[in-house]
Order: sequence, then C-alpha cells, then structure tokens
Amino acid sequence: MELQNRKIVIIGAGHVGSHAGYALISQGLAEEIVYIDTDKKKAQAQALDLSDAVNYLPGRAVIRSGDYSDAADAQLMIVAAGPLPDMSKGQTRMDTLRQTIEIMKDVTEAIQMSGFAGIILNISNPADVITHYIQHQLNWPPRRILSTSTTLDSARLRRALAEAAGVDQKSISAYALGEHGESQIVAWSVVTIGGKPLAQLQKERPDTYGKLDLQAIADAGRAGGWVILGGKGSTEFGIGASIAEVVRAIFRDENRILPVSVLLDGQYGQHGVYASVPALLNRHGVADIIELNLTPGEQARFSASCRTMDENYQLSLTL
Ligand code: 2OP
Repeated sequence: MELQNRKIVIIGAGHVGSHAGYALISQGLAEEIVYIDTDKKKAQAQALDLSDAVNYLPGRAVIRSGDYSDAADAQLMIVAAGPLPDMSKGQTRMDTLRQTIEIMKDVTEAIQMSGFAGIILNISNPADVITHYIQHQLNWPPRRILSTSTTLDSARLRRALAEAAGVDQKSISAYALGEHGESQIVAWSVVTIGGKPLAQLQKERPDTYGKLDLQAIADAGRAGGWVILGGKGSTEFGIGASIAEVVRAIFRDENRILPVSVLLDGQYGQHGVYASVPALLNRHGVADIIELNLTPGEQARFSASCRTMDENYQLSLTL
C-alpha cells in the first residue's frame, strides 16, 4: 500500500488563506499545501513566505502555488476567496453575497473540472449561504462540505464571557449558533462553566455570575469581528486557528464536536438550510449533528436566523 501525503488545496491566497496555511503547518496538519489564486504572483509569494517559515517549524511541508489540476488528489479544499465586508459602507457579511457569488461561479466550475473528490471547507462570506451555494452547484455530498462559520463566533463569545466572568475561556462551553453574521444566536441555556450550567451558577452566586450582562456579552461576541476589522483591516489569526481546529478534527479522525455550518435535514426543525450547530467531525467529514435542547425563545431566534440564510441562498441561485 502506498502512503499518501495529506494534501490541502487553498483557494484564495489572501489574509485568511495565508493564515490558515500558517496555522496548518505550525500544527503539522498537512504535508502539502497548494495555493490557487487569480493573482498568481500573490499565491506564489504566500507559498514562498510560508516555505521559509517551515525551516524553523517542527514539521515538514511542501507549500507551493498551483492550479485546479492540483486538486485532483487533494483530500481537503479550503475555499477562502471573496471580499471582506466594507465597513466604511456599513456592509455586513451578507451584503457581500453578490460579489462573492460572482467569484464562486468560476470557482465551482473549476472545482467541477478538477477531479477533486475530497472534503470542502468554505470560509468565504457570507459563509453559510456560500457553502450552501457551492454544495448545490457541485451537488456535493453534504457531509463532505461545511463551513467554520460560528466556530469563530463561539471563540469570540467565550472570550467575552471569560473576560466578564473572570474564568479562563477554555473552561467555558458556549456556542454561537445559526449564521456567521448578524443573525447568530447564543444558546445561553446550554452554556456551562467548569461543567456547571451558567443558569445554576447565576442562582448560586448572584453577586458574581448573577450580575453578568448576557446581552452585552452576546453583542461583544457577535461584534468581535468588527472590532478586529476596524482596527487592522482584516481578521486572520482567529480564523486561521479555527480552520486548523476543524481540519485537525477531520484529518485525525477525532470525532470532535465543533459548531460548524452544516446542511440541516430535519434537525432543529430545519430542512435544506446551512446553519451552524454542533457537529461531530471525523475523517468522513460531518459524521453527526448534535441537537441541543434549546429553549422556545432560542429556537425561535435560531429559526429566524435560518430564514434569513435561506432567503439569501434562494437569492444566490438567481444571481
Ligand atoms: C470574521 O468574522 C470577517 O468573517 C470574518 O473574522
């Protein structure tokens, strides 16, 4: 039996694509990474810069620029092409739909011709809708196409909650669900700190946990990306680490549960819509979807988030 390299193709050599590459090689998650970008010089430059870094990283990896023929024997493809929301115009991620779809028309056609048959991880915004669009255009098996989506928002939520509660963020289990964007919801009813439900902690310790302003914390989590975008013009380290987390779960067959955008088929009362929920990831991709017991209020807001995404998905098919 021939040993196989773990090969990842990254479509888009911008901030997200390059930081994803760095996170992946830092964690030794791939032996080969190929960058594809319409700006070939940029793809080559990112590959060279990352190759220099490999000298001083523990693992080994070949990083280069290429074209879609390189995808034929890759196990994983990261789609990270598309514009950042223009904050000066007050654009949300969803407002970039038309621009990203224009790019995705070419990307999906090229993927179709490439012979690629692996797992697709889409990052391009609006992430949930674009993932659904790609899945539809390629008629891809849903378990093999997903988005990091609220993996990142959940990290931002945990950071905000950790700061307010004075507890390390890794000791908190908390999910932002639904859209990687403005309509996301926080499932407060299932938040635990050190394994203890937050609602219980609030009753037991009214002077500390009881004083947490949950709405302000949810807002801070949702706005986390805007603060970073406003401050430095791009977000990159958080999403790079989120991508590596999802890729590790898949490549190492971890059966890890992460909030990612998956095609819902009856779960949470939703049919045929991509939305972020906790999902079990392993070498098959999305192996299972976890149905949380949301409160009626959370469920209603989650359904509203799904409606927004479905309306935009329907729109995307007409563009
Ligand atoms: C982020 O949340 C802008 O979607 C990007 O970092």
